[in-house]
Amino acid sequence: MSKKEEKYLRVMQETAYAEFGSALEMLSACKQSKQEKFCFGFFHHSKDEYNHTQVFLSLLSKYGKNINPELAREYRFAAQSLINKGYISPKGFLVETMKFKDFIAYVYTNELLAKESFEKILKLVNPFTLEGNQISQIMKDELRHHGLAKKHFLKYYPRLQPWQLMVYRVRETLQNKGRKIYDSNLRLLDKILSPLYKSISYVAGLVIKNLNLNEFDRKGKNLMNLSSSSII
Ligand SMILES: [Fe+2]
Ligand SMILES: [Fe+2]
Repeated sequence: MSKKEEKYLRVMQETAYAEFGSALEMLSACKQSKQEKFCFGFFHHSKDEYNHTQVFLSLLSKYGKNINPELAREYRFAAQSLINKGYISPKGFLVETMKFKDFIAYVYTNELLAKESFEKILKLVNPFTLEGNQISQIMKDELRHHGLAKKHFLKYYPRLQPWQLMVYRVRETLQNKGRKIYDSNLRLLDKILSPLYKSISYVAGLVIKNLNLNEFDRKGKNLMNLSSSSII
């Protein structure tokens, strides 16, 4: 598989994880909402993020069908990876661990960052195809989400200064970068450790194959006559 194909698969897979993580965060915010209108807003936001996840998973599977199944396995979607990769914290959902104001600031900055990263993704696909159209539509959704969070700010925290939102944005950008470094380190470790695991399991297989297991056979043996230290 060429480097370009590998990049395509990795980007689609990571984006599907990020979108699914957002969908769960928004659903959790919806469930915790004290006001009906917030609940309604978060519900629709979550629904959009689920749809985005679906788009990226369908792009992934469309592409994955034509590659070697051994490689395709690496790009399978596993919900557990949301935590391993840092998209969802094991400590809880953001709405549970952050102040509500910080949570909205997080949504505000992340939606804008998401839209920017989709601009890069759009370069990986032909913008005049169905895929291109789907991604452009997602970008519009992200901008709308960003706009809604901004509206919320202006209404409920009118004294918040633009520089404070900048601070949130820088913090989020750094965290996203950190997540990418962590992920590439994991992939490097996997490359180094996989041959080691395989050779250990090969040696273990050889040992088991050559063991004489007749000793462990209970058939026809009077168990009452066995020594108390026997492992049977
Ligand atoms: Fe999204
Ligand atoms: Fe979004």
